[in-house]
Amino acid sequence: TGPKPLDGKRVLVTAGGTVERIDPVRYITNDSSGKMGFAIAEAARDRGAKVTLVVGKADVSPPNGVEVVAVRSAAEMRDAVMCRLPDSDIVVKAAAVADYRPARPRAEKIKKSAEALTLELVPNPDILQEIGEWKASREDGARKPFVIGFAAETTDVEKHATDKLRRKKSDLIVANDVTAEGAGFGTDTNVVSVYGPNGLVASLPLLSKKDVAGRILDLAQDGLRASGPSS
Ligand code: C5P
Repeated sequence: TGPKPLDGKRVLVTAGGTVERIDPVRYITNDSSGKMGFAIAEAARDRGAKVTLVVGKADVSPPNGVEVVAVRSAAEMRDAVMCRLPDSDIVVKAAAVADYRPARPRAEKIKKSAEALTLELVPNPDILQEIGEWKASREDGARKPFVIGFAAETTDVEKHATDKLRRKKSDLIVANDVTAEGAGFGTDTNVVSVYGPNGLVASLPLLSKKDVAGRILDLAQDGLRASGPSS
């Protein structure tokens, strides 16, 4: 077997949903299965990369042959990601990060009462945005990863995806049309469009998540080549 396209590269992938504690026995999460991120991690491994997978709650087992860092909350995911940025060539943020968390997680189980219960939520850090800001703050010539975010959209996919790309200073945004048949949470297939700074880069048909992963990595490899050889 000859050289592989990602030999010597380090790829950081996040996958699954984050888990935000309410009390010792209850939490807030979402329907992310982890499958899209796992498919990317697996494809990057097969292309020769050294892969780190930061994973929250997932319905399936992570692939073999990658380093798995298990986290729960968005705050833990952020710490796990930010400390690995300087060593990463490609970062793919496929995790479904909870936008909010309980303001005051309780140390003890909340007791039932006849009263209505209000749970105050506060915004979580936006990890993708922090990655973009970290990159922008790096000096010229410093090693910076190529960063790919995901977006689940139902309307105005192009507009929301390109707005997100600019706001979060990502290199590519992969937009899932979650209303499309065979796309989104839990399925083994996906329908995505990929946007870069100049707009639409690729509009993919219904594909397995494995094939979507391959196409996303092709684009990341193009991006790495365009940004010159890294250290
Ligand atoms: O803004 P939205 O949540 O739709 O953006 C989705 C992208 O941003 C995904 O790549 C997701 O992993 C990332 N994200 C994040 N931190 C958040 C929310 C989203 O990194 N708090």
